[in-house]
Amino acid sequence: MSTEGAAEGVTPEIEITADGSATLRSPMHGDTYHSLRGAVGEARHVFIEAAFRQSTGAPVRVLEMGFGTGLNAWLTLEEAERTGRRVDYTAVELHPVPEEVAARLGYTSDLRFAALHSAPWGEWSRPAEGFRLLKLQGEMTEILAKSDFSATFDIVYWDAFAPDTQPALWSEEIFARVFEATASGGVLVTYSSKGDVRRALQAAGFAVERLPGALGKRHMLRASRNADGGF
Ligand SMILES: C[S@@+](CC[C@H](N)C(=O)[O-])C[C@H]1O[C@@H](n2cnc3c(N)ncnc32)[C@H](O)[C@@H]1O
Repeated sequence: MSTEGAAEGVTPEIEITADGSATLRSPMHGDTYHSLRGAVGEARHVFIEAAFRQSTGAPVRVLEMGFGTGLNAWLTLEEAERTGRRVDYTAVELHPVPEEVAARLGYTSDLRFAALHSAPWGEWSRPAEGFRLLKLQGEMTEILAKSDFSATFDIVYWDAFAPDTQPALWSEEIFARVFEATASGGVLVTYSSKGDVRRALQAAGFAVERLPGALGKRHMLRASRNADGGF
């Protein structure tokens, strides 16, 4: 297997989840990219249903922490097309998944999925009608520190590896930067419902709700900027 596009020793392995859809396992972190209960089921529940479907932006401006398999971008593209919405999608990724690995995930045979992966890094492209994509390769904390993301995003998909694996990506410090980057009325969604994560989001300024989690998981979190509700 070629490792082009991935740093040495981090090429992920394909694994099949309980709903039959594929995910990847990172040899570096030992973690899977999605819940083993179901990759597609989890992604739809946490990111599409709890956030994208609720958003009214035109275009809807999305920031994703961890482009990975491209599954969240793909499901967003599909949902946007189905509902006639335009999307500006910014995705950050430290270790891009090689295109040939992405092609073997079997999420769809639609050529636009491959276009998401072959899209250039560091510049806006339009892999599908109404869907603009900016992939940024690098470390999330550094990208947030050096970018001018002020009230830029309607939705943040927070899809880092688990808090126990990557604590720096779930800290109050990073969420404070994400809060600044989130537009008024915007939301951050994540599969994690950990108490420490909820408290870090609240300390950063978000109002946090605990929602039912995906596929039998008890909870997930949705954090809003300037929302009336709260936890
Ligand atoms: C849980 S996976 C989810 C990926 C993707 N959302 C998906 O559905 O496949 C986390 C992703 O974050 C990336 N990542 C991990 N640490 C990172 C960091 N510090 N900065 C940017 N990306 C990072 C990993 O390479 C991986 O692709």
